[in-house]
Amino acid sequence: MTVSSLGYIVIESKDPAAWRNFGADVLGLMAVDTPDGGVRFRMDDRPFRIAIVPGQEDRFFAAGWELPSREAFDAAVKAVAESGAAVEHGSKEEAADRKVRALARCQDPSGNRLELYEGRVQDYTPFVSPTGVSGFVTGNMGMGHVVLPAPKVEETRAFYKTLLGFGDTDEMRVPIGVPDHPGLALYFLHCDNPRHHSVALFEAEIPGGLVHLMLEVEKLDDLGRCIDRCKRQGATIAINMGRHSNDKMVSSYIKSPSGFDVEYGWDAWQVDWTDYVPTKSEIFSLWGHPEMNGG
Ligand SMILES: [Fe+2]
Repeated sequence: MTVSSLGYIVIESKDPAAWRNFGADVLGLMAVDTPDGGVRFRMDDRPFRIAIVPGQEDRFFAAGWELPSREAFDAAVKAVAESGAAVEHGSKEEAADRKVRALARCQDPSGNRLELYEGRVQDYTPFVSPTGVSGFVTGNMGMGHVVLPAPKVEETRAFYKTLLGFGDTDEMRVPIGVPDHPGLALYFLHCDNPRHHSVALFEAEIPGGLVHLMLEVEKLDDLGRCIDRCKRQGATIAINMGRHSNDKMVSSYIKSPSGFDVEYGWDAWQVDWTDYVPTKSEIFSLWGHPEMNGG
């Protein structure tokens, strides 16, 4: 029942055309239009890593979590069902649409939607970035990470740990400016790959259903060129460049058409979990990220 990686995400958008421009021209992702008026983005050899589906709302719709085998998938579905959470099996058609062999849907205790899946349907189309990004760091580490709203943060953390096999990596407290308040919890969890965290849980409601999404590029020049493209394309840089304390990621945060930020990062720590001890970090960044660290 151990999740191996964040395989894909699904975003509902009132304006897929804005996402198409943002994804291709700013982020450098390979756009594939869908017959329903949506768009999907490739980052690597997978048929898609980000699906933008047209809808009435702008919201993060679901995170797709990969299980390494049919047995692991069945065990995860059973564990979630036995916890009392509702689990719905996806149809063959729905699995085919997600380019997987088997699919199930559920929600964590804070209401974030998950799609658990196993198997990968491959079409072997090579990834070609329209802006010349040399590559995204994906493979067995998955597509990146998501930071999800989790008002019921302790229950939600337990859900990922005990039912899906995630482990603690780090935790922080986010001050809210109230004297003697401990701050809001921010828990960083890893699954079965070296990425420092594939999900983080933030103890708050967030409009749109996502704090941020992180994509990692292979070279510093890929990050620098993306910042140049933001300026040329009129995309807003919400948080300027810095290096995070916990995962050592050098990144900038770019405002997406859905309102949440895309963290565009490079050079994150790939952790060997065999001798890892979970940490509590008291600062967000080693340097930079001025908007996050009080200017
Ligand atoms: Fe992040």
